[in-house]
Amino acid sequence: MLLAHISDLHLDGTERVTERTARVVAYLNGLTRRPDAVLVAGDIAEHGTPGEYAEAARLLDALDAPVFTCPGNHDDRAAYRKVLLGEPETTGPVNRLHHVAGHALLLCDSTIPGEDAGLLDDETLDWLARALDELGDTPAIPAFHHPPALLHHPYVDSMTLTNADRLAEVLEGRPTVPAVLTGHAHTPAATTFAGRPLLVAPGVVSTLRLPWESGEGLTDRVAPPGVAFHVVEGDGRVTTHFRVVP
Ligand SMILES: [Fe+2]
Ligand SMILES: [Fe+2]
Repeated sequence: MLLAHISDLHLDGTERVTERTARVVAYLNGLTRRPDAVLVAGDIAEHGTPGEYAEAARLLDALDAPVFTCPGNHDDRAAYRKVLLGEPETTGPVNRLHHVAGHALLLCDSTIPGEDAGLLDDETLDWLARALDELGDTPAIPAFHHPPALLHHPYVDSMTLTNADRLAEVLEGRPTVPAVLTGHAHTPAATTFAGRPLLVAPGVVSTLRLPWESGEGLTDRVAPPGVAFHVVEGDGRVTTHFRVVP
């Protein structure tokens, strides 16, 4: 399976931000192999307004591959559901299972409405555990917004997933999960969580400055947007390539 993984579009109606997402869409549509899916790991809108999701739908509908999304801390569950998913405006967690090329993508809602930090609530953790059991031997990749591990950046680490231990309990003894995918950090990163790769997509809207990098401010808004490509083999081996989109 070839999975393209992007995150943190933060669409706000401004030309700069729209252009960056459009640039990534054009890049993905220009690949010589169509990805089996494009994953957008949250912070799709900047303010969570219906207009921002209408723009997201317009931009993402242009992708020449199936697109799957999950919400981030900037997203609004009700508007996200109504405009992006075409569903009633309920406010519970948005959890979705999709089958992609012999694999399952488990898109979980790690948001706490009104807060920047993340949480997989009981409903979501129960859903995830049940889905993994029902999937049997099918390789299954959970994806959500907040990284469940410290990334050694004080800003991001102050708003990470607050109950990563509960997720680790769910993954324990479930070897069909080859990796965990997230966004939120606005920097391409690879680490481990619960004994498997934890792969963080680069940001489309901006790139986080690492504490040891020079430059003014928290983020670099000039650095190009990025994409992660994950090649997932049947035996569960995951190879990741990070790319910038000039
Ligand atoms: Fe973000
Ligand atoms: Fe975020």
